[in-house]
Amino acid sequence: MLNMDLIRFEDFFYRYKGNEEYALNNINLKIEEDNFILLCGETGSGKTTLIRCMNGLIPQFYSGFYKGKVYVNEKDTSSTPIAELSTDVGIVFQNPENQLIAMNVEHEIAFGLENLGIPSNKIAKKIEESASLTEIEHILDKAPFELSGGEQQRVAIASILVLEPKVLILDEPTALLDPYMAKKIISLIKEIQVERKLTIIISEHRLDLVLPFAEQIILISNGKVIEHDSRDDVINGTNFQNLKLNKPVIYTIFNRLKNENLFPRKIPASIPAAIDSIKKLL
Ligand SMILES: Nc1ncnc2c1ncn2[C@@H]1O[C@H](COP(=O)(O)OP(=O)(O)O)[C@@H](O)[C@H]1O
Ligand SMILES: [Mg+2]
Repeated sequence: MLNMDLIRFEDFFYRYKGNEEYALNNINLKIEEDNFILLCGETGSGKTTLIRCMNGLIPQFYSGFYKGKVYVNEKDTSSTPIAELSTDVGIVFQNPENQLIAMNVEHEIAFGLENLGIPSNKIAKKIEESASLTEIEHILDKAPFELSGGEQQRVAIASILVLEPKVLILDEPTALLDPYMAKKIISLIKEIQVERKLTIIISEHRLDLVLPFAEQIILISNGKVIEHDSRDDVINGTNFQNLKLNKPVIYTIFNRLKNENLFPRKIPASIPAAIDSIKKLL
């Protein structure tokens, strides 16, 4: 089939049980293959809720009211078992500690594969590959509670990657990490995307770290997708400018220059892009 969407929302609405307001309001969204997508919006705008729809947790696990459809690989997420959807879409939620359940890291990574009935000789090879990709080979025999935040985050990523999903979704993966470890995790995610040709969807507040890698941005505000376009088009638009986000310094500087008519080009998304852009002006 040509141009199959990995994930597609069609006129989708969702309201949590007990809430009057819709957390998601008329979502129409298409996620295509091999993209690095930043999901961006203020706190409470609906990012986590949107992510919960991408593997069937909403509407199957969370109670509430929904209207419309979400498809993953053309499978209807309201009726396809979550376990089946999780082989297409892997999600690393905000707090990896709650996601790690096994005795040690190796078992943690093996867990999903065992559930899928993969033979043990194949499991060993797959564990080796994901452990090497996430650089955790040296901690395979440690218990989750013995790990640092950055290590836990990498184990959570490895245990999802081993299932070879087509989409890897990360909900604020650096929220609990120091700036140095946050930078390492984001670079690692980019390397994984290139190596595995995955689609990445990442909700992240540290825009200075992700903007240089993002290819597309989805802007969400009050439960609505207000923009979904290439990164450079979105950061040069007024929606992005007006949202209360932790904007990168490079953005703030060039946005000011542009508003004062001192910079006749597009606002760059990274330091190298800024230098390049200035060189072209000289
Ligand atoms: N489990 C839940 N039960 C009820 N309301 C929720 C739940 N999770 C989130 N919400 C509400 O849904 C809205 C969107 O929240 P969320 O998706 O967590 O936003 P974000 O991830 O962008 O901060 C908020 O108003 C929030 O209070
Ligand atoms: Mg959230």
